Amino acid sequence: MEAVVTGKRMEVLLDEPTIQQRVQALGQEITADYQDKELVLITVLKGSVVFAADLVRSIELPLTMEFMGLSSYGDDTKSTGVVRVTLDLSKPIEGKHVLIVEDIVDTGLTMQYLLRNMATRNPASVGVCTLLHKPARQKVDVPLDYVGFTIDDHFVVGYGLDYQQRYRNLRMIGHMVDG
Ligand code: IMP
Ligand code: MG
Repeated sequence: MEAVVTGKRMEVLLDEPTIQQRVQALGQEITADYQDKELVLITVLKGSVVFAADLVRSIELPLTMEFMGLSSYGDDTKSTGVVRVTLDLSKPIEGKHVLIVEDIVDTGLTMQYLLRNMATRNPASVGVCTLLHKPARQKVDVPLDYVGFTIDDHFVVGYGLDYQQRYRNLRMIGHMVDG
């Protein structure tokens, strides 16, 4: 699939079967790790929604879903680490096993904020599952329990990830190249 964005071309980084296979495997790992635990999946809006929708269907455990709205101040492609909560959890997570579902860990600043925020609510445990990890740009160390794919330093879109709110509905993950 190719789409033209202001003089740029989209190049496929991860195609649909590759993503689906990996998400299935992550679901199986999570299923094995959380046996007999009360699992609460916390999906970070908006980028992680597509990933979470597929992931939950590959987890064979009773679970509940919660959503956290976070918006980081910054320009289009860089986060500043200053995070604003736009939607909070609807239920307390005290004593629950929490798994945060993120689309991408880039600088790690958003995840650091989220982990600190969750810790104040006394969950039994907090795990992190991110579809993508971009270690080249990471500024702070955050524990990542499940990583779908480690990628090079590209700004990627698709499968939930956006550029100026667009491209979230692509089935693949791609990046913009000049041309
Ligand atoms: P961090 O705080 O720098 O780790 O960035 C976290 C957020 O920035 C992610 O949850 C995304 O919403 C956004 N982000 C970072 N890198 C990308 C990218 O390559 N494509 C789309 N969004 C990105
Ligand atoms: Mg995000």
